[in-house]
Amino acid sequence: MTHVNIRRFEDKPKFMNILYRKLVSTDTKQYRDIRLESLKLYPENFDSNYEQQIKLPKLMFEQALEQPTDDRFVMGAYDQQMLVGICGFIPFLSNNGFPVYHIGTIIQMYVKSQYRGKKVGLNLVKSTMDEAFKIPSIQQIFLEVLEGNKSAIRVYEQAGFQTYDGEAGGVRMDSEEIKQMMVEKAGKPVLGELASLEEEGTEEGNFKNL
Ligand SMILES: CC(C)(COP(=O)(O)OP(=O)(O)OC[C@H]1O[C@@H](n2cnc3c(N)ncnc32)[C@H](O)[C@@H]1OP(=O)(O)O)[C@@H](O)C(=O)NCCC(=O)NCCS
Repeated sequence: MTHVNIRRFEDKPKFMNILYRKLVSTDTKQYRDIRLESLKLYPENFDSNYEQQIKLPKLMFEQALEQPTDDRFVMGAYDQQMLVGICGFIPFLSNNGFPVYHIGTIIQMYVKSQYRGKKVGLNLVKSTMDEAFKIPSIQQIFLEVLEGNKSAIRVYEQAGFQTYDGEAGGVRMDSEEIKQMMVEKAGKPVLGELASLEEEGTEEGNFKNL
């Protein structure tokens, strides 16, 4: 039987009682719907493409929910039974495509528009970090965000992330977009390693995790 950790936060305004928990296999349909909604409405904020993803019989996390492993999960924000926000976590992919199991990546952050500005995003990131640091191998959490995505950057900063300006540089050009890389402050000791992982690969690398 799957053990599910449930957290409740005091959201504002007070009438909101949002529950945060890891998604399980029975959440697959709701996950697919909200993920595709995020890609359709905010194509600029994610690397995956709606038209391509909707054709897939199963999205990456749908497979992960059906065949769970310890190293990846999706945290969900629930209003009653309705999934209103998601935040995914996977191992960092090095530029040669192999997972780096002591560095994790936050991906697929999304909160439905009517729930924004009420700390749902912040609580989702915090719960995701809490769960991620329970994975024994995880020492560092990393993410990428578009430089212009001010609300997302605000959330990540509030959750304890800071702009990563290590040896490999703080921003990466990808088409016409400028992406900002951020790391969770407590994980600084492995930053040098992250930089060397970036330098090993191509310019495009595997920064396809948004
Ligand atoms: C990013 C996102 C998840 C944030 O969710 P949320 O539930 O609104 O987040 P929170 O309520 O915790 O915090 C939002 C913060 O951004 C601030 N904010 C909103 N718009 C802003 C702007 N243009 N400039 C600066 N800050 C802004 C809010 O004031 C709030 O900060 P505060 O609590 O200090 O007032 C949500 O906006 C979203 O789903 N966006 C579309 C998808 C996306 O961009 N995902 C991130 C991919 S990296």
